[in-house]
Amino acid sequence: MRISKVTISGVRNIGSSELMPCPGLNVITGDNGSGKTSFLEALFILGSARSFRTSSLKSVVSTGEQNAWVFGEIEGGFCSASQTQGVEVSSRGKVRARQNSVSVANSSVLAYTLPIQLINSDTFLLLDGSPKFRRQYMDWALFHVEQNYSEYWRRFNRGLKQRNRLLRYGKLASLKQELQPWDEELSVCAMKIDRLRKTHLVELTPLIETKFEQMCPIPGLGVSYKPGWDDSIEYKESLALSLERDRAVGYTKDGPHRSDLVITLDGLPAVDRLSRGQSKMLVCALKLVQGDMLSASRGYKTIYLIDDLPSELDAENRRIFLSQLKLSQGQVFITAVDDDFIVEAYTEEREKIAVFHVEHGVFSRLV
Ligand SMILES: Nc1ncnc2c1ncn2[C@@H]1O[C@H](COP(=O)(O)OP(=O)(O)OP(=O)(O)O)[C@@H](O)[C@H]1O
Ligand SMILES: [Mg+2]
Repeated sequence: MRISKVTISGVRNIGSSELMPCPGLNVITGDNGSGKTSFLEALFILGSARSFRTSSLKSVVSTGEQNAWVFGEIEGGFCSASQTQGVEVSSRGKVRARQNSVSVANSSVLAYTLPIQLINSDTFLLLDGSPKFRRQYMDWALFHVEQNYSEYWRRFNRGLKQRNRLLRYGKLASLKQELQPWDEELSVCAMKIDRLRKTHLVELTPLIETKFEQMCPIPGLGVSYKPGWDDSIEYKESLALSLERDRAVGYTKDGPHRSDLVITLDGLPAVDRLSRGQSKMLVCALKLVQGDMLSASRGYKTIYLIDDLPSELDAENRRIFLSQLKLSQGQVFITAVDDDFIVEAYTEEREKIAVFHVEHGVFSRLV
């Protein structure tokens, strides 16, 4: 997929702007505080009705404005005609989304049409953050590739809430009986989620290893999956065995909601072993591989939003990463204070580059 036109109004310091990005690399340059990250945030909102910076979407609405909106024309889907997508956020935080002029109640519809991978300083959380970030990473591809995955995940979470409520407030005498239908439901969903994740990782792991080898030739990378419970038994059994403990703590401790992706180097946590720049290369490899997988399975190209590329990478690693981005053939938006090193790396394909400069939220095209 690619965005052929984007119109933004009232997003942080961006008053009103219309841009025609190119299908390849789009570089957005500007001084600190000029609106580079705000632009990426607008694109992210277009693809998810969420911000990558804040859970309170209303804070993206420009001070003094009633609402913010982003509207995009999208090409490259199954149908040859372009599609449109728009998200409006009111200053009270109300979000309205439309696709092809029809209201969209569930923002996953937006994400499904416009697959976006973001790389910014928070991407390091994939290595040094809580397991939640690595679960989100695994689930991104499964959401896009496995039709039923989201439904099982939604059902699992609904069941988990009910089970936890019963663990806390249910009557002790009838607890087992009351839990039984939820344990059944949780088990069906957990076994399915687990199987899909494991199958996905069997495909993903060698791709990660190869990509990392190409980007940062340090041997010994290992990727493994922790399912979140003792998976030598069925989840239903695991729930039964840990009932007393779960009741004592008041929530369900084990399950796919506690799974993790363990990334190691020579058997040690990769984050403890790699330098900051090498870690950045690894998280970039992880992100690129997801896009490659999506492209191979659905034929869709992922859109990459990269905030402040130069930070943490030396010239050689920037060159390697840019050439890998080129290989992905997806549309790319990169922000940087200075564009010299990016344009140089792409000079042989100038027609696929657009360079925009932003000042006080106003964009002008340089190349
Ligand atoms: N709700 C808002 N209304 C108006 N302006 C805002 C709002 N939120 C943030 N801003 C301003 O928007 C400007 C652009 O911020 P942004 O993060 O996009 O800058 P940037 O170009 O990415 O800078 P840097 O190079 O420092 O990362 C900042 O000056 C910020 O103070
Ligand atoms: Mg910024």
